[in-house]
Amino acid sequence: MNILITGANRGLGLAFVQYYLQQGYDVWASYRSTPDALAHIDNHQLHSLVWDISSDVEPVGTLPESIDVLINNAGIYGPGKDGQSLENITAAAMQQVFNVDCIGPLRVVQRLQEQIIKANGTIANVSSKMGSSADNSSGGSYAYRAAKAALLMVSKSMAVDLADSGVHVISLHPGWVQTDMTHQTGLIDVTTSVKGMVEVIKQGRNYSAGQFIAFDGKLIPY
Ligand SMILES: NC(=O)c1ccc[n+]([C@@H]2O[C@H](COP(=O)([O-])OP(=O)(O)OC[C@H]3O[C@@H](n4cnc5c(N)ncnc54)[C@H](OP(=O)(O)O)[C@@H]3O)[C@@H](O)[C@H]2O)c1
Repeated sequence: MNILITGANRGLGLAFVQYYLQQGYDVWASYRSTPDALAHIDNHQLHSLVWDISSDVEPVGTLPESIDVLINNAGIYGPGKDGQSLENITAAAMQQVFNVDCIGPLRVVQRLQEQIIKANGTIANVSSKMGSSADNSSGGSYAYRAAKAALLMVSKSMAVDLADSGVHVISLHPGWVQTDMTHQTGLIDVTTSVKGMVEVIKQGRNYSAGQFIAFDGKLIPY
């Protein structure tokens, strides 16, 4: 099985890499600029790629011939909480976060769809419950919420468009996780989150195409 994970140098992406390597899979781990902890993993089944998903520049490194599971994990929150209030949010911040969190995964799928179709693979787009309108009772976070909501729609369209090619597409919510993004303040650790998401991916075809699923297997309305 070939797995490709974006934003794999730290946080949830790195934990996905470690999990799948432990399971004996071939893992393509992409990172934006520095490999960080990836550089210290000594495993012949690990293949690194340099890939900044915010631009159309080609990934650097050898891509797999087929991809069983693509995890579109890379993402940013954008400006801190105050920077994303109604008063302070800027067009530039909205565009920057949208470019990474929504257009980024779309770029990745456009680039890799041939390899994913070849394996009748699964695409897991990592969104966030913050992108669910149904769950939004606290407002704010304009850029992050909007970009992750848009990713859910992109993911749903992919699910419809790729179904006839045998590709299954779902969206994931990792939970509130102790990573740099949450300044390590999350409720769960990366191991718990990734263990749950991997199980959801494994069960993927038991979920309808385009569904939004939390790390604990619960469906999230959006
Ligand atoms: N942590 C949570 O509680 C939580 C909750 C809901 C959803 N999520 C989502 O889960 C995913 C992983 O989050 P995390 O908590 O692991 O965050 P993180 O620790 O901040 O890691 C983010 C990763 O994305 C990469 N990245 C950012 N911009 C990129 C770009 N332009 N091109 C390629 N890679 C890029 C980062 O690379 P660099 O090191 O080069 O910056 C890093 O590897 C994100 O999509 C996030 O929105 C997280």
